[in-house]
Amino acid sequence: MKVKKAVIPAAGFGTRFLPATKSMPKEMLTVVDRPVIHYNVEELIEAGIEDILIILGRNKEEITNYFDRSPELEMLLKSKGNVKLLEMTERVSEMANIFYARQKEAKGLGHAVACAKSFVGNEPFALVLADDLVYSQTPCIKQLADAYEKYERTIIGVQPVPEKDVDKYGIIDGSALDEHVYAVNALVEKPALNEAPSNVAIMGRYILTPDIFDMIDQTTPGKGGEIQLTDALRLLKEKEDIYAYAFEGKRYDTGDKLGYLKATVEYALRDGALSEQFSAYLKTLFEK
Ligand code: G1P
Repeated sequence: MKVKKAVIPAAGFGTRFLPATKSMPKEMLTVVDRPVIHYNVEELIEAGIEDILIILGRNKEEITNYFDRSPELEMLLKSKGNVKLLEMTERVSEMANIFYARQKEAKGLGHAVACAKSFVGNEPFALVLADDLVYSQTPCIKQLADAYEKYERTIIGVQPVPEKDVDKYGIIDGSALDEHVYAVNALVEKPALNEAPSNVAIMGRYILTPDIFDMIDQTTPGKGGEIQLTDALRLLKEKEDIYAYAFEGKRYDTGDKLGYLKATVEYALRDGALSEQFSAYLKTLFEK
């Protein structure tokens, strides 16, 4: 079965980016010329997904405004004959069918995903965590969705991380089935190094089936007192096989200051109009 729907939770407070996120959603932080969530939506469209549910928390109106039409701006650009910018602005509001739901209380990622239950219905769906940007030849979600079509199992996107970082991620243990695919044996949310089953981390990309919703209902608060998706996936694993997919691509954690800076510099260096001047400028910084 093809994956046609996707969910992007965008309800978190963004405490790692205070004070900027006091009045601005972290998903609207800009990498070069577009907000992080724009890249997530582009990834989904390139993977053939057009129906996208964004789960909002309070103070996230800027996200809905961003994907809406901007009549005043469009009129101004039209009157000035600025066709290129006009088309760019209109394209953002037409890029996908975007729907919204509100997570009324900040009770964790599992709880946020549960808000997607009626949107999802009886189909598999992609889940993209907005903090994570993945730069790859084949869109990360497409890699996972293709694996889903082959195996028809829940698929979790993973990559190895340095051992010192295992306590920042959901960590899995798996047995290799083929070059990229593992059968998941264990899942732990943000374990201490001595309790981590491996250094293979969940990277904010999943293909889930509607079975996850019953598991979330049965999940009690875990790490940080929150309903954790990783805990719901562990319950699911007791009932059916779930797989992990080691995707190709460079992943950036834009919810973290250093990760965000890395993304900004590297996306600017890949930008045709900026790369030459920007790399020349960066070199001058290290010439002294
Ligand atoms: C979430 C998930 C975690 C995953 C991480 C990836 O944690 O709970 O399993 O490894 O995203 O970015 P968060 O970073 O939102 O606390």
